[in-house]
Amino acid sequence: MTVTPELMNATAATYRNGTLYVEDTPLAEIADAVGTPVYVYSSDMLKSQYAKLDSALGSLPHQLHYAVKANSTLAILKTFAELGAGFDIVSGGELSRVLAAGGNPESVVFSGVGKSVEEIDFALKTGIECFNVESNSELIRISERAEILGKVAPVALRINPNVDPKTHPYISTGLKENKFGISQETALALYQRADADQNLRVRGVACHIGSQISDSAPLFDALDQLLALVDQVAMHGIQLTDIDLGGGFGVTYENEAPFDVDAWGATVTERLAHRGLTVSVEPGRFLTANAGVLLSRVEYLKPANGTTTDGVDADEAGKNFAIMDAAMNDLLRPSLYQAWHGVLNVREQSSSQARTWDLVGPICESGDWLAKNRTLSLSEGDLLAILSTGAYGSSLSSNYNTRNRAAEVVVSGDRFRVVRRRESLQDQLSTEIL
Ligand code: LLP
Repeated sequence: MTVTPELMNATAATYRNGTLYVEDTPLAEIADAVGTPVYVYSSDMLKSQYAKLDSALGSLPHQLHYAVKANSTLAILKTFAELGAGFDIVSGGELSRVLAAGGNPESVVFSGVGKSVEEIDFALKTGIECFNVESNSELIRISERAEILGKVAPVALRINPNVDPKTHPYISTGLKENKFGISQETALALYQRADADQNLRVRGVACHIGSQISDSAPLFDALDQLLALVDQVAMHGIQLTDIDLGGGFGVTYENEAPFDVDAWGATVTERLAHRGLTVSVEPGRFLTANAGVLLSRVEYLKPANGTTTDGVDADEAGKNFAIMDAAMNDLLRPSLYQAWHGVLNVREQSSSQARTWDLVGPICESGDWLAKNRTLSLSEGDLLAILSTGAYGSSLSSNYNTRNRAAEVVVSGDRFRVVRRRESLQDQLSTEIL
């Protein structure tokens, strides 16, 4: 068994009669029709994950802002827009995507440490809900741009609460050593400056301490610090109306217990009761990760003895490599974070022929791998599903080695729809001038 029962329970993929399905659609059918590599998403799972988080905050006045960076494909954004989601963006490009997908600009919060003048102007003209401001200089720039455009900019300060989210160092954002947010100590002075500025309307306080968080304790720690700040600024006559708790809710990739949103929601509800604050969250991974799989074919088997897969013991003779048609340009997480993704053969295999494989891509980098040391029974041409790839999969993809970006498909019951066609070489070359 290469995939844990916890992951089988969490992923949108299930075996029926020896073949892998997403909802009522066999994955082999999608690969035959669309080719590989291809990302496949379950529309049901996107909706059910949204519903879980929404109901966890049930009785509190709240708004979910889907973190666009996790998966910015228009059809995914449209799905969430139709469910009533707002959006958390980090660039003007993401704002354009939200608008193109029919999202409501009045439910958009703009995070990020490096908002350019052009991006600020675009957001002001569009009329977004709030800028989550990350520095004194940014606050000054937003005020200047608002004045020039004759607008009043809604702002919240993103606080860096200096708590350890206990996650991968690349995706921890709420420690002093991270570039994000404003320290507690300087926040009051900035609130006072913003409050006195007629170009700004102070709305709230925000934080985001990291991603793939499984333990709620650091989140509550951050929440308590934000509440203390709300009280502190209230004593100086500034009433905040919104509290943004960020995203970061962890999912099952291997055997992690899924983040207990109900328990988290109950504590948040208890701590925010009677405060009259509207609570916001910015989930990305929780909504999309396990709704997606990346389908890829085995191009070549390169077993340790160089010629055959028969009778080779990888430990004695070196590594067995399965060279896939997907690569680090399609799915960067393993290369960048040594992330572990479950892998299933779309045709269910008996384990009798299994051996240990490294699944690698065709890119000319030794760091181009998708999964290491997996016990699988493989033949050339086999179709594999790389699990939990609905978040930070397609959105982190690139054209490295001049590879076209993968196609993307949304499944709904026994139907599927190509929501992003495979990129063509013409698409890639069209921006260049000789
Ligand atoms: N809000 C802000 C301000 C963020 O920076 C992020 C993620 C989120 C919300 C959403 O976090 P989530 O709910 O998805 O954990 N590429 C990495 C993850 C980077 C996360 C960056 N910020 C990965 O593949 O694991």
